[in-house]
Amino acid sequence: MPERVALLANNRTWAEQMAHEDPEFFARLASQQSPKFLWIGCSDSRVPANQIVGMSPGEIFVHRNIANVVVHTDLNCLSVIQYAVDVLQVRHILVVGHYGCGGVAAAWAGKPLGLIDNWLRHIQDVGSRHRAMLAALPTEEARVDRLTELNVLAQVVDVCRTTMVQDAWRRGHVLTVSGWIYSLRDGLLRDLGLSRSGVEGLDEAHDAAVRGLAGG
Ligand code: CO
Repeated sequence: MPERVALLANNRTWAEQMAHEDPEFFARLASQQSPKFLWIGCSDSRVPANQIVGMSPGEIFVHRNIANVVVHTDLNCLSVIQYAVDVLQVRHILVVGHYGCGGVAAAWAGKPLGLIDNWLRHIQDVGSRHRAMLAALPTEEARVDRLTELNVLAQVVDVCRTTMVQDAWRRGHVLTVSGWIYSLRDGLLRDLGLSRSGVEGLDEAHDAAVRGLAGG
């Protein structure tokens, strides 16, 4: 059976099973979505948003790109954030990185790969800002892991600085932006200690979370 035909067969089995367990499931989802969470994660096939937090269709609004980067000129990501915040009125934005991220490793290695170098440049900029901290680590693996964590913290800051999130907070919308990291080795998520629910104190909270990574 060609690989893509297997997917269609899987889909049929899944849809039948879902309808069997909950006959109203698809009718309910077809009429509306009201997710409480926006997930901004990596495109990596090993980090599927819904699956690793045990959530069903309809419960998480998802944006994924290489190395979970939030760029202030990326209309795709900005549109997702705006729709999630203004229309769906999500309560949480989760920026989720993962150890073993090929994008972060490529950014750290700095080997030319083509167009993607421009995208990875954002992660290299994060690395440049924390050069001393990274240099003090004993191994390359430890440096890439730390850069992965630092990248999540930097992207949380970038989400918080978008006009959509700033405006939402100013009008009193209850919205929390948090940074998490996922381990491919054990399937567990860890909170990186940076969660914001308002405009004040962002830089201080970011710096405290960075110090927390270093254990100080
Ligand atoms: Co990745």
